Amino acid sequence: MENNRGSWNSKLGLVIASAASAVGLGNLWRFPYLTAKDGGGAFLLAYLLITVFVGATLVITEVALGIKTRKNPVGAYGSINPKFKFLGVMNVITTSIILPYYSVVGGWILAYLAKAHLFNNMKDYKAGFLNLITADYEPLVYFLIFIVLTAVIVFFGVQKGIERFCKFILPALLFLLIVMMCRALTLDKAIEGVKFFFVPDFSKFDARTCLDAMGQVFFSISVGMGIYITYGSYLQDDGQKCIGKVIWPVVTADTVVSLLTGLTIFPAVFALGIEMTSGTGLVFITFPKIFGTIYLGTIFSYVFFAIFFFAAITSAVSLMEVAISFLIDNLKMSRKKAVWIDFIYCVVIGSISSLSFGKLGGFTIAGKNFFDQLDFLASNILLPLSGFLTSIFVGWVLGPEKLQVFTNLKQQKMFEFCIKWVAPIATLILFVDCVK
Ligand code: TRP
Repeated sequence: MENNRGSWNSKLGLVIASAASAVGLGNLWRFPYLTAKDGGGAFLLAYLLITVFVGATLVITEVALGIKTRKNPVGAYGSINPKFKFLGVMNVITTSIILPYYSVVGGWILAYLAKAHLFNNMKDYKAGFLNLITADYEPLVYFLIFIVLTAVIVFFGVQKGIERFCKFILPALLFLLIVMMCRALTLDKAIEGVKFFFVPDFSKFDARTCLDAMGQVFFSISVGMGIYITYGSYLQDDGQKCIGKVIWPVVTADTVVSLLTGLTIFPAVFALGIEMTSGTGLVFITFPKIFGTIYLGTIFSYVFFAIFFFAAITSAVSLMEVAISFLIDNLKMSRKKAVWIDFIYCVVIGSISSLSFGKLGGFTIAGKNFFDQLDFLASNILLPLSGFLTSIFVGWVLGPEKLQVFTNLKQQKMFEFCIKWVAPIATLILFVDCVK
C-alpha cells in the first residue's frame, strides 16, 4: 500500500532508520559519563534491566501504535482518544528541547573531526576539551554548521538518505569501536576498568542511579517521543506480522554499541589516568588519548569522528522530524516554512546552551547551567513522564490486547504484564522520587 505519506521499502528500512535514530550521542557520549558518575556496574545493571523490561516494551508499543493508526504522534494519540492528544504534543516539545543541546555536542564532534590531528597530540587532553567548549565563538560556529546540515537533510526528506547512509554507518561504527576496544583492553591496568564497568558497587546504588539509568534508556533507544510511532506508521501492510523482528535488532544494536563504548572508555580511563569525574567531556578526553597511543592514530581518529558525526546527525534528523511532521500535519505549514521556524528556534536555544559553558556560565537554574538543565528536564523528567503516560494509555485505556494483531509477539503475555504493571510503576516511582 503506497500513499502520499510515504513508506519504507521493506521492513529492513524501518529497522535501519530506527537503529539510526537510536545509535547516536546517547551511546557514545552520554552513556559513559553517566556510568562514570553513577558508580559503574550498578548503573549498568539498572540500565540493562530497564532496557529489557521498560524500554523494549515501550518501543513495541510505539511501533504498534504507529502501524495501527498510521499517523504522527499527535494524530495517533488523538485519534484513539482525544483526551490523550496532549501526549503527542508532549512528544513534540521534548524532542524540541533535546535537539538544540544535542546539536551543541554535535558541534564539538565536528570540531574534533576538523582538528583531529591537534586533539590527538595534546599535553593536557582535558584542558584541550575545556578550551574548546568555553571559547567565545568556536563552539558556536561548529554548532551552527551542525544544525544547518541537520535542517538541510530534513528539508530534503530523509528516508532514502537515512536508509542508505545507515547501512554503511552502523557496521563501520561497530568495526571501529571493536578495534578501539581491543586497543583499550590491551593497555596496562585495563582490567580495572572492566571491573568498574561490570562489577556493581551497591553502595552507590539508589533511586538516583535508577532514574539516571531510565532517562538514559529512553534517550538512547529514542523512546517516549513518538519517533517509533512516526516510523512505524510508514511500514507497509505486509510488514505487520512480526514486530519482534523489527524491535529486537534495534534494541540489541543500541545496547551493543553502548557496551562496546563502555568497554573502550573505562579500561582506557584506568590505564591512561583520566579523571573519572570528567563529566560531559569524558569521551572527548578519552578517545583522543587512545588515538594518541595507537598506530596510525590520527587517521583512525578522522574516520572515527566522521562516523561519530554521522551517527549523531542521523539521530538529530529524527529529532527534528518529529516537530516538522507536527507543524506540517497539524498547523498546515509547508515543509520549507516548518524547517525555517524550527531552525531559528534551535539556533536561539542552542546558542544559549553552547554559551552556558563560557560567557553565560554564571547563568544557572536550580544549580545547573542551561545546557545541563535542558538535558535533565528532557531526559529525567519529560521522557519518563511520557513513558508513564504511554504505558497507562496502552495498558489501561486502550488495552494491550487491541495491539496484539500488530505486535503478535511470542512474549505477548510478558509484554502485557510489562506495559500494564512494570513500566508504569517503575516510571512513576522514579519520577515521583525525582520531582519531590
Ligand atoms: N537515541 C538518540 C541517541 O542515542 C537520540 C535521539 C534521536 C532520540 N531521536 C530521538 C531520543 C528520539 C529520543 C527520541 O543519541
